[in-house]
Amino acid sequence: ERTEGERLTELAKRRGYYFGSSDAYGGVAGFYTYGPQGAALKSNVEDAWRDRFAVQEGNMEIDAPTIMPEPVFEASGHLDGFDDMLVECAECGESHRADHLIEDNSDLEDAETLSVEEAAERIADLGLVCPNCGADLAGQSVEDFNLMFETNIGPGSSTAGYLRPETAQGIFVEFPRIKEYARNRLPFGVTQVGRAYRNEISPRKSIVRTREFTQAELEQFVDPERDEPDLSSVEDVEVLLYPADEQQADDGDYVETTIGAAVEDGIVANAWVGYFLGVAQEWYERIGVDVDRFRFRQHLPGELAHYSSDCWDAESEVDGDWIEIAGFSYRSDYDLSKHAEHADEDFTVFRQYDEPKTVERAVVDPDMSVLGPEFGGAAGGVKQALETLAERDPDAFDADEVTVEVDGESYAVDTDVTNFAVEEQTESGEHVTPHVVEPSFGVDRTVYTLLAHAYEEDEVDDEERTYLSLAPAVAPRDVGVFPLVSNVDELVDLAEDIVDDLRTAGLSVFYDDSGSIGRRYRRQDEVGTPFCITVDRDGLEGDSETTVTIRERDSGRQVRVPVDALAAELESVRAD
Ligand code: GAP
Repeated sequence: ERTEGERLTELAKRRGYYFGSSDAYGGVAGFYTYGPQGAALKSNVEDAWRDRFAVQEGNMEIDAPTIMPEPVFEASGHLDGFDDMLVECAECGESHRADHLIEDNSDLEDAETLSVEEAAERIADLGLVCPNCGADLAGQSVEDFNLMFETNIGPGSSTAGYLRPETAQGIFVEFPRIKEYARNRLPFGVTQVGRAYRNEISPRKSIVRTREFTQAELEQFVDPERDEPDLSSVEDVEVLLYPADEQQADDGDYVETTIGAAVEDGIVANAWVGYFLGVAQEWYERIGVDVDRFRFRQHLPGELAHYSSDCWDAESEVDGDWIEIAGFSYRSDYDLSKHAEHADEDFTVFRQYDEPKTVERAVVDPDMSVLGPEFGGAAGGVKQALETLAERDPDAFDADEVTVEVDGESYAVDTDVTNFAVEEQTESGEHVTPHVVEPSFGVDRTVYTLLAHAYEEDEVDDEERTYLSLAPAVAPRDVGVFPLVSNVDELVDLAEDIVDDLRTAGLSVFYDDSGSIGRRYRRQDEVGTPFCITVDRDGLEGDSETTVTIRERDSGRQVRVPVDALAAELESVRAD
């Protein structure tokens, strides 16, 4: 008995959805090419995502390069922290992901939360062997392996660059410019759909874990003290949640609730995250994810990415396994603060006060040296510490001496020589670093889920058939058009006219005049084409208007429709 995944991979290759790349040269693991159907399905998913998360939300979309210079990833933390645990077989040299090996061979579901030492211990305790050659893995060291692909920018090797491991950094890095387009007013969202690259230790499950994939990401920039999402459009959306504490409890269970209740009860701590879970639940349902095989699972504390303080994954079930298809992460001000530390730009937004405020500020006399030579190399740090102190506690300067700490050293400064004056100033606002809420979707995993959940087998006319019950909104082809027989000019001419008309109306049409009509239907069923139109003699006879039959894929039901009504009829189904 083949697994769902195996049946899908076979159908995907046969019908042009996806297949391993560069097969002519032996192929290389973790890279896939989308064939004609797959490319169309993927692009429809991307369009549907754009429509919902960019257009309908009123967000801005950008398109940044996929290669970025090293300092970006130094700042973002990816150079240091974007690792998976690797264990290499001493016998055959094959590399494996240590956490996956442990999960596959024990009850543990969160092995990625283990340290490298703990993972090595588990491997030994469980007596794990290399899946490739069967050699014992006990005693092998487990190491952190950075997932980024490195490259050189320009001739020579002077400038190191990396293929981006997430599209998000392209948005954060450009924040100082993008905020201007948003007129410096929070909240606003920026989206990007594009390729991301990770040198996965062990790519698996065809397009589920690859080394080059497509993300659709939204970075929602908010003022954490002021901005609240409008939950009214999603508060009644029903969701199946699997919170971290339930996962850790012995008899842990799902929570079936609504978005409104989940936010109110604090199950989902951040209201923006709650809002996007609701939008995503409805979006997934619309494009054809089976909601009975879908849940939101909260990350366990040790599982969180280095930038994230809370995260919920959207997960779909295939073959009894849960696959992470999107993450909804609360990134706080982590990214913008890091870039502000490393880059010479302003990553803040100006927050206007309701009323101008009078504040006390430290003012330095510009003509006088601030501190005497006795402070030597520490003078800059001491000056900064004094300024900070003057803002926080202006009264401290009433004393004869103030003490500040710089790099662990204490400096006592005579207030007469600081040359600081504390003055009253009127300020209209302050600079704040926005917080980020990030819905991040894997497009390939969405495609995989849609295909797996659409895969059906039944019997029609005593024959077994396989069909993909893809939603019309994303199916690669809208309609097949067939003349019943190919040797009657009248039928072929009318079928060709219908093809032209439907293509002009913007539909994706497949014309087929070869083989029996039953076989032509079966082929379109396997591709997932929602409708097939057949032109036959009956429709041309008599004085009444010309008609054709439309057959619906899942039920096989056929109805007769006037040719003139075809385009409108099909368009309305697609728009539903
Ligand atoms: N910017 C946040 C971020 O990148 P992530 O959870 O690492 O978060 C987001 O990735 C989504 O990208 C995942 O939920 C998954 O759908 C997709 N993804 C990640 N790694 C992938 C891979 N190797 N192959 C295919 N899709 C992947």
